[in-house]
Amino acid sequence: MTSNLKINLSITSPNEMLSDKNETLIIGIQENGNSQSSKNIFNKASKGLMNTLLKRKEFSGKVNTSCYIPALADQKDKKFFLLGLGNTSDKFKDDDASKLITKICTLAKTANTKKVSLFLPEIKFEKRDFSWFLQNLSMQLESSTYKYIFDGKKEQKNNILASVNLLINSKKDIADLRKSISIGTNIGVGINRMKELGNTPANICTPTYLGNTAKELGRKYKNLSVKVLGEKEMEKLGMHCLLSVGNGSVQESKFIIIEYKGGKKTEQPEVIVGKGITFDTGGISLKPSPAMDEMKYDMSGAASVLGTMEAIALIKPKSNIIGVVASAENMPGSKATKPGDVVKTMSGQTVEILNTDAEGRLVLCDALTYVERFKPKNVIDIATLTGAVIVALGHVASGLMSNNQKLADKIIDAGHASMDKAWQLPLWDEYQGDLDSNFADIANIGGRAGTITAACFLSRFTKKYPWAHLDVAGTAHGSGKAKGSRGRPVPLLTNYLLSQS
Ligand code: BES
Ligand code: MN
Ligand code: ZN
Repeated sequence: MTSNLKINLSITSPNEMLSDKNETLIIGIQENGNSQSSKNIFNKASKGLMNTLLKRKEFSGKVNTSCYIPALADQKDKKFFLLGLGNTSDKFKDDDASKLITKICTLAKTANTKKVSLFLPEIKFEKRDFSWFLQNLSMQLESSTYKYIFDGKKEQKNNILASVNLLINSKKDIADLRKSISIGTNIGVGINRMKELGNTPANICTPTYLGNTAKELGRKYKNLSVKVLGEKEMEKLGMHCLLSVGNGSVQESKFIIIEYKGGKKTEQPEVIVGKGITFDTGGISLKPSPAMDEMKYDMSGAASVLGTMEAIALIKPKSNIIGVVASAENMPGSKATKPGDVVKTMSGQTVEILNTDAEGRLVLCDALTYVERFKPKNVIDIATLTGAVIVALGHVASGLMSNNQKLADKIIDAGHASMDKAWQLPLWDEYQGDLDSNFADIANIGGRAGTITAACFLSRFTKKYPWAHLDVAGTAHGSGKAKGSRGRPVPLLTNYLLSQS
């Protein structure tokens, strides 16, 4: 993917903001401020309109309020959105900053034009700085320009925001701010890559398609090297558990490895592993029909790995990062795995498959054994693994479980910093007994704590390195009317990886 959006940054005083050439201006207004504040400058330029709005209580400058002004007497070719930023002494918390960014993206979209200018006085944060804000703003502006184009219809792209002229009134180092904007935009590109893969229907987006997309990334970015293994190669590696999931499908299962080497040769890599079930029917343990179409999103973990690797290839941090995808299609059929079947994993442990719908852990366990060869610094797997995580956390936070608290804390921090939150659930030994089997080393389901026991299953394969598991079944995509990939957790993953380099 390439960036949809050009973000241009310049330092401007409120006096100059009105001479901006763009037709749409979003002007940040603070409730208080001196005669040089955007409020007073705008009031002067509009011959008192600002004061009228204040008097009539149509706009106060209260944070996240806005007011549309179709034109001014002497600026008929411009439209204005006033955006409330609260008091100059206000310090934005992370959640407030997130709401403000959402508001800006909505206004930019409402403008329905290709170019928008945004004037922002320097706002303050409780524990962040302005460059952090600009990184997240750029990321979400870029991601808000994403649109799924069906049927190759180019005209659907009309009037999608293509450039933002960011006018700020700041004494900060502009080169530094520009760097943050570039990082944010690149993460946005990764988010959009994930969205496109997630939204692509499963008759097109097969394991082979994911493999080809990875190879395409390898050709596009010289700093990525890509390998795609087919079923024969996986057979040789002993990945029988992964392979058992694709048994009922005509689509060949694939195993994808993407390497980024930005650090010293000897430096241990960070590894991310994605679940790539391109469609999850449940297999012989067939799912009910309602909303089964959404199981095309069961490759969201894989898509987040590809999106994150693309963002990393663009940002070029000085560290080593490896992305791995375990991909299969979970179908019923005469060759499909049946409940009660016992398979041998790459690790040598055997699994009694009691429910073929608990397939994500079956592809991931072999991938988690495979990555031991990289002697990873840390491993994070990302998977739409359980419906139960939606019951626990809804669509707000991804579920996080880990065998290493330091790693878990870093991931939680990265989630806050990128407005892509994760919440930790316990991975205590007491839950492990739920996976006891009479016929194999482990059963693939058990107990009532579905999200935790799924992670317990994975933990049997991750003893050799610090590991964390992100259950993104509730966060990766929207449902019903909001159906569509949300590009999560690309922001969290990228932020984590950059903080590690
Ligand atoms: N892909 C599903 C999980 C899922 C459910 C993702 C809803 C997104 C929305 C996963 O493979 C699955 O079917 N999990 C089962 C596990 C159960 C059989 C132990 C589930 O959650 O019901
Ligand atoms: Mn399933
Ligand atoms: Zn699944």
